Amino acid sequence: MYAAFRSIGAYVPTKILSNADLEVMVDTTDEWITKRTGIKERHIADENETTSDMGAKAAELAIERSGLDKNQIDMLICATISPDYFCMPSTATILATKLGLNKVTAFDISAACTGFVYALSIAKAFIESGMKKNILIVGAEKLSAITDYSDRGTCILFGDGAGAALISATENKAEAIIDIHTGSDGAYADLLMTPNGGSGSVHDELDREKAGCFMKMKGNETFKVAVRTLTNDVIEILEQNSISSSAIKHFVPHQANYRIIKAVGDALNLADEQVVLTVAKYGNTSGASIPMAINDIYESGRLQEGDLMLLDAFGGGLTWGSALVPFAGKTL
Ligand code: UT7
Repeated sequence: MYAAFRSIGAYVPTKILSNADLEVMVDTTDEWITKRTGIKERHIADENETTSDMGAKAAELAIERSGLDKNQIDMLICATISPDYFCMPSTATILATKLGLNKVTAFDISAACTGFVYALSIAKAFIESGMKKNILIVGAEKLSAITDYSDRGTCILFGDGAGAALISATENKAEAIIDIHTGSDGAYADLLMTPNGGSGSVHDELDREKAGCFMKMKGNETFKVAVRTLTNDVIEILEQNSISSSAIKHFVPHQANYRIIKAVGDALNLADEQVVLTVAKYGNTSGASIPMAINDIYESGRLQEGDLMLLDAFGGGLTWGSALVPFAGKTL
């Protein structure tokens, strides 16, 4: 049995936070943000809108587009670093209930911006082992809830949103997800973290900023490790599968920074039309960024049945991953 990537869906909150808005909030400029990151705006969830609310909307679309009866879904994995609740219940169980999926295996995974690629690899393994048949994977983030809007080093980067995909068993090898690489290095844990609130720290502050619940990032160091790691990772997965970069129809990288994407794309000699870019309009939505980007090319009619995608992500942990995925869904 193989695992096929059957459908995609996404949800983007309506409220926009532009670079001009941020100019009023912190000491920054539209020019600096555009030049250093490629970001022009990001979408922000309503105060009462949760990560699972957004994930459910993306998932409903993915289920509808798969043509599958939702009662056949037997597992739900949610990749998020901004769960509805800090420790429990998982966002996945809340999502399952919102979607009317009864008694499915449901759990969250924490791999930051690489979360969707990690979730995809877990789905592939469960399907190939024969344990599950139809797995809904969701990347959903309300990063605005863990962003410090007085820290110009991070608040200009992050946005909210969700994406979802249905991964199903198939006997047709031509439809199969070809390969997925994932890795991590906890030696770099302090480059990108929410420093407090877990068992590694004690806090009795109610103030979220003081309590260290907001993201902190050593941006420039993270940038350098990201370019190096991602470039090596995509070259390796292509070489190991004897696939040339010209065979990639869509390179769908995690949308952290245009300069990182460009560096990796150049290392692979990719043409502009092969590279999927959404960073300008959504910013960095962590675990949601890759499915949101896939949804963009799907809804714009660029993603066709059989197209080979190369997914590529990097994030807190540090974690990274890449995947060679033919689109096995119906063209919109
Ligand atoms: O998604 C998961 C993984 N995350 C990433 O991959 C993100 C990786 N990092 C980045 O994307 C980039 O490092 C940033 C966009 C965060 C920063 O860009 P950079 O080119 O690495 O800038 P920098 O941190 O080296 O800072 C350069 C200068 C500094 O000023 P001085 O020391 O040269 O005077 C910063 O204080 O830019 C200053 N700066 C800003 N200026 C205006 C930092 N943030 C801002 C800002 N507006 N928002």
